[in-house]
Amino acid sequence: MNLHSVKGTRDFYPEEMRMRNWLFDVWRNTALQFGFEEYDACVLEHAELYTRKAGDEITEQLYSFEDKSGRHLSLRPEMTPSLARMVLQHQKALSFPLKWFSVPQCFRYERMTRGRRREHFQWNADIIGESSEIAEAEILSLLLTVCRNLGLTSKDICLFLNDRRILNEILDSIGVPEQLHPNVMVIMDKRDKVSSDAFTELLQQEEMALSQITRLNEFLAIPTMEELASKLGETKGLISLRKIMALMTQSGLGDFLKFDVSIVRGLSYYTGMIFEINDADKAQRAICGGGRYDSLLSTYGGGSIPAVGFGFGDVVILDVLSDLKKLPSFARRLDYLVVPFSADEIGMALTISNQLRQKGKSVECDYSLKKVKKALQRADELNVEKVVMLFPDELAAGKVVVREMQTRQQKNVSIEELTS
Ligand code: HAM
Repeated sequence: MNLHSVKGTRDFYPEEMRMRNWLFDVWRNTALQFGFEEYDACVLEHAELYTRKAGDEITEQLYSFEDKSGRHLSLRPEMTPSLARMVLQHQKALSFPLKWFSVPQCFRYERMTRGRRREHFQWNADIIGESSEIAEAEILSLLLTVCRNLGLTSKDICLFLNDRRILNEILDSIGVPEQLHPNVMVIMDKRDKVSSDAFTELLQQEEMALSQITRLNEFLAIPTMEELASKLGETKGLISLRKIMALMTQSGLGDFLKFDVSIVRGLSYYTGMIFEINDADKAQRAICGGGRYDSLLSTYGGGSIPAVGFGFGDVVILDVLSDLKKLPSFARRLDYLVVPFSADEIGMALTISNQLRQKGKSVECDYSLKKVKKALQRADELNVEKVVMLFPDELAAGKVVVREMQTRQQKNVSIEELTS
């Protein structure tokens, strides 16, 4: 039997589980602080939820299968389609705007590279039903507050910002017909990952001429919004980005933001602002990514409901924090180890342990009945703060011996004092 986990998936041993819980707690607590509510859905969905015309890579990476009733199902590769489905199903009962978050596990049959696995957890936060730039500012503030809470500064990371409308305007200006824009953008998203010859070839397959490709590359190298405005005019996308940047400066988070016309994002449903977080020289895969998607819900047959949000995976961020030596310690910690001297004291050990637990303490009982020295070694391994030793003579006087593991000092304490 093969005892390895499936290629690209992870086991979480207790130490890794402590790290995962720590990250999830920062995600959850910050989202709750911003007034977001948690939701969840099943990891299994109808595969058609992910079928899109534009040829998104994600559609080709599905873990899909037919169940015993012939239903075509898939493990979710991302949460946004499930969110859209849930909102549409209860649209009439919900009061908009919704501010919802979730920490789903997602599955994608990816080519494995650093930062990309076949299974990952992805914190999602979305605002549904708000079309103004305030929603973008709120979403970005939440995201950057989490980054700060994880110990990252604007020297460590950068939020690269663009707008799909700007990309459409660029493609219009070089004469790419509108119906080709989604496919061309899927290719543009691969620009950093393939050679320039391969990039040219892929665009040629979408009927782009060499002269158009040269102009596209020129546009994608423009460094500032001002220079882009001088070529395209003050377009909708640029005006909207300026509003978002002004709001973020007022939020005190403007330092993290940088306009980058080459940001595309791989999912075809984005319609407005798009962004990703990376280190300043984009050496990693994106730490997180998202944007505005005002027409996804209508493509599922609902009315058009504006929406904006992001997905923030657990893989890249932990690599980044580890590289920067910003991960806290995940050593196990216990308040008490209770050690009965012999079988006669086991009953009392149980009583004291439970009384301490009722006081909110974490307590383990050592029933091994080995020598005290062994119990103290185990207490060191478990990173226990105090050891409570139950000896017959002291117990007869209503007392136990309490040892502080750090100072190695110990004293007799009455059971009542210990547990009250
Ligand atoms: P995405 O850009 O496909 O967006 O993924 C978002 C984030 O999930 C990535 O930046 C990365 O942190 C993580 N991620 C994605 N794929 C993998 C992988 N194979 N291994 C490890 N981490 C991965 C979405 O999924 C959108 N649904 C996000 C969104 C929510 N947009 C609006 N609302």
